[in-house]
Amino acid sequence: MALPLSLLIIILFSITIFSTYISTINGAFSEHNPIALTTTHTQKTTHLHFFFHDTLDGKNPSAVRIISPEKSNFGTTFMTDDPLTEGPELTSKLVGRAQGMYASASQHDVVLLMVMNYAFIEGIYRGSSLSVLGRNPPMEDVREMPIVGGSGLFRFARGYALAHTLWFDPKSGSAVVEYNVTVIHF
Ligand SMILES: *[C@@H]1O[C@H](CO)[C@@H](O)[C@H](O)[C@H]1NC(C)=O
Repeated sequence: MALPLSLLIIILFSITIFSTYISTINGAFSEHNPIALTTTHTQKTTHLHFFFHDTLDGKNPSAVRIISPEKSNFGTTFMTDDPLTEGPELTSKLVGRAQGMYASASQHDVVLLMVMNYAFIEGIYRGSSLSVLGRNPPMEDVREMPIVGGSGLFRFARGYALAHTLWFDPKSGSAVVEYNVTVIHF
């Protein structure tokens, strides 16, 4: 039996309306909107090399303990304003400061959670910063931490930092750490 054309059109029309209604009430978990990015900027890769001085003792410590749990070291947290220098000596040229926190994040090993902004003051990077959020097992020779963003010349930054402890004083906990940072940005 053939349906009259007009009835067929009404049925098809109703199905369309109904399926639109269903997808509206269900919502969408994700949507992709093609956006044409018209940018005159090109992506750059920058390498940075500097030394991080974490001084816990003396007259002017650059890192202070802000949380001291009673039971164990787990949770111990330090706030830092550590100088970043061009060479391994604290007296070498200051290129920036590591302003942030690190905290003991493991109950069984020595592992730090690093939440830091590396604010630069030298050359073209003066006023620009990189944000680090990562896991740092300081007893390992080389640790890798993600660069999750940046500001100024480092807008849209992403990359990684490789850190190696050059000197460590077990008594105070002070350290000098060499950093190689590779960052992609606009
Ligand atoms: C950083 O790079 C220099 C030069 O390539 C290298 O000698 C040094 O071992 C590297 N350090 C780290 C922590 O990656």
